[in-house]
Amino acid sequence: MKLIVYSRAPRDTKNLGRRLGSLLKGGEIIALTGDLGAGKTCFVKGLAKGLSLPEQDILSPTFIIIQEHFGRLPLYHIDLYRLDEIGLEELGLRDYLFSSGVSAVEWFERLREADELNCLEVKIGFEGGSVRRIELNARGDTYVRILHDLERCFLVARSEQGEASS
Ligand SMILES: Nc1ncnc2c1ncn2[C@@H]1O[C@H](COP(=O)(O)OP(=O)(O)O)[C@@H](O)[C@H]1O
Ligand SMILES: [Mg+2]
Repeated sequence: MKLIVYSRAPRDTKNLGRRLGSLLKGGEIIALTGDLGAGKTCFVKGLAKGLSLPEQDILSPTFIIIQEHFGRLPLYHIDLYRLDEIGLEELGLRDYLFSSGVSAVEWFERLREADELNCLEVKIGFEGGSVRRIELNARGDTYVRILHDLERCFLVARSEQGEASS
């Protein structure tokens, strides 16, 4: 299953992340891809909010690859940008990704085993100016269910606001 959402501003991207965060139960992998400045960290800020964490906790420092946060569920914010390639057995990644917390991984494609893992893919692309195309792809039954719920809460939000946000 696939869901495509157009974001017109950072707030839209965060809102989508927040809605997703509020639907998570733990054990999920959120696989973020997209070029520098696409909005991956912005999305994770929203995800944090949905897990009852302050979005200001989510930073994008140069040298830190893994940051742990403890909200409604643990959030492991992993950024593989500074690594050309990495395996699941390195840096304890397997333990994070197969824990009962939520792992949000930026530059997920740099993980050697990326294609083998069930996850929710979040691909963010530039569409000119501040518009972003966010494509969510469910890899595995758990993620299909989450995406269904996310789509439903998006449709409800749209009709409540009386404006299209996707
Ligand atoms: N629609 C949008 N969604 C997300 N970020 C946006 C959007 N429009 C502009 N931006 C800006 O793009 C940048 C995204 O940065 P960041 O989330 O750190 O990107 P990444 O982690 O993908 O490198 C921020 O400066 C943000 O303000
Ligand atoms: Mg980032």
